[in-house]
Amino acid sequence: MHTVDFDREKTIEVDDLELTLLQISRGAGIPHASACGGHAKCSTCRVRVLEHPERLQPRNAKERRLAAAKGFGGDIRLACQTRITGSVRVRRLVIDEEDLQIASDGTARTIGKERTLAILFSDVRDFTTFAESHLPYDVMHILGRYFRTMGDAVLSHRGYIDKYMGDGIMALFGLERASPVEACLDAVAAGLTMLDHLGELNLYLARQFDTEFRIGIGVHIGSVIVGDMGHPTKMQFTAIGDAVNVASRIESATKEIGVGLAVSDEVRVLLGDAARYGVSRPINLKGKTGEHLLSEVVGLDHHETP
Ligand code: FES
Repeated sequence: MHTVDFDREKTIEVDDLELTLLQISRGAGIPHASACGGHAKCSTCRVRVLEHPERLQPRNAKERRLAAAKGFGGDIRLACQTRITGSVRVRRLVIDEEDLQIASDGTARTIGKERTLAILFSDVRDFTTFAESHLPYDVMHILGRYFRTMGDAVLSHRGYIDKYMGDGIMALFGLERASPVEACLDAVAAGLTMLDHLGELNLYLARQFDTEFRIGIGVHIGSVIVGDMGHPTKMQFTAIGDAVNVASRIESATKEIGVGLAVSDEVRVLLGDAARYGVSRPINLKGKTGEHLLSEVVGLDHHETP
């Protein structure tokens, strides 16, 4: 006798291996959503496999098609198409009416896809001090000019401007390029261009406001989930995941190392000798265990601008 443990709901004994997970849960009285009636068209029956994915039959053609369109990872299965070969533990993902609405009207981007991307964070050092000592109109004006200049650097290297956070910028690289090496090259090239552009912007700031900006830029690469997130009236395409947090921490650490652009060791390994490096230091990143080797990048060799 095998069991299906529907996490936090019910454990069901199963002796008929011809039944799908959806038939098993429905048979036990679980209100399992199935908007398309079990035809592998809606994905509202989806479950996350928590234990023993190897005890599920492989995806059939219909499930493969929908999983590819929605960008599901291997741990997400359609209950209406999936049969067990042994005991498993799964969790339903569409539980209430609100989940159902989100799952039903979602496009492939809305659902979220796992991608390997290079993530860049930048920040203006001591911006709060600057903002406090200038008129709000001037602050807005300068920020506008700064974002435009830095945004151009991101876009000119195939980057996507993910968001602004105060004076900070988060950008993604690799959405259009298949290779992680190319994603890192683009991100680092953008970072170097930002530092370049900063020089020009500082001439203006010195002339008009008697001040100069210094910025810190951190670049990391890793696995993230990308998709449209937010309220239906204001969705935004963004990335979430630990790699995003690490990139942000690297940016913060640039101050401690005293460099303008620092990359993680993962990025350095991928870049190899395509980049020229300055200072390298093992650093404890806030909220992360262990030391992380960060390297300053001072230049790139042979990287073409699109
Ligand atoms: S019920 Fe619609 S995909 Fe399974």
